[in-house]
Amino acid sequence: MKVIKNVAQMQKIASSHLKSGDEIGLVPTMGALHEGHISLISQSEKNNDITIVSIFVNPIQFGPNEDYLKYPRPILKDIEICRKNHVDYIFMPLVENMFPANYETFIEVKTLQDILCGLFRTNHFAGVATVVAKLFNISCAERAYFGIKDFQQLKIIEKLIKDLNFRTKIVPCSIVRERSGLAISSRNSYLSVEEKNISGNIYKILKEAAEDFKTKDLNVVKRDAVNKFKKIPVSKIDYTEIVNFYDLSPADKNTKKAVFTVAVWIGKTRLIDNTVMTKQSKL
Ligand code: PAJ
Repeated sequence: MKVIKNVAQMQKIASSHLKSGDEIGLVPTMGALHEGHISLISQSEKNNDITIVSIFVNPIQFGPNEDYLKYPRPILKDIEICRKNHVDYIFMPLVENMFPANYETFIEVKTLQDILCGLFRTNHFAGVATVVAKLFNISCAERAYFGIKDFQQLKIIEKLIKDLNFRTKIVPCSIVRERSGLAISSRNSYLSVEEKNISGNIYKILKEAAEDFKTKDLNVVKRDAVNKFKKIPVSKIDYTEIVNFYDLSPADKNTKKAVFTVAVWIGKTRLIDNTVMTKQSKL
């Protein structure tokens, strides 16, 4: 396994693999690697000759009052995890190398970036779309692996690929959860033991809502879930929305496949989660 810190060098290595006919899988991450990331890495290894894991805490996707400086950076542990999981290259660029002082180009995916998390995190998705587009070009990836946990991010990247004709194909990967149901996240390290126990209820509520969605009215499903979130208790709800699976538009009574997506605060930690919901088919 090689650790590459320079953008030009990574791009050169990736293009030479491409020329020799290797298929490259890219797993973009911000590090603090956990079982969720590892599941993406394993998928990539199954489908590709070469796996590149990028570890880059991307400053342009954090708002001024967010946790950019506090974000966990256990570099040596991350390198060890990659080594154990047979990664070929870790790409770990410096901020100045990815975004030099004269950097000026940003990608916006108009409609999708301004809803749900976008309403609470201004410029977040432009920051994500921009860095991901750069990573696609640098890595020459045939396939890139993204978690369904960040459902809006996944949809934005799919749209970006379609609109800008990137050759990279997206492989969506299922959400890895703790035994309690809590979706594993690098930010879970901010939670106290008590907050972690509370957080386990988020998925329970989502699962019950998915069951209710099969037969009940949309507004009832949402109202019941919001009441349950208040009881957990969450300290704040950013949003609890049932949206169309395909384009994230608000679901209505005719929507057959939806996603219940939530962003809630447990103490001072913001957690996101979602579950796919389908209507019961009429026999
Ligand atoms: P990060 O939060 O490190 O997540 C990297 C990838 O791991 C994302 O595709 C995310 O959806 C996936 N992931 C995280 N937790 C997961 C879980 N419990 N189960 C399955 N997959 C999980 O998302 C980012 O970084 C950044 O925005 C990035 C795309 C790297 C751009 O900077």
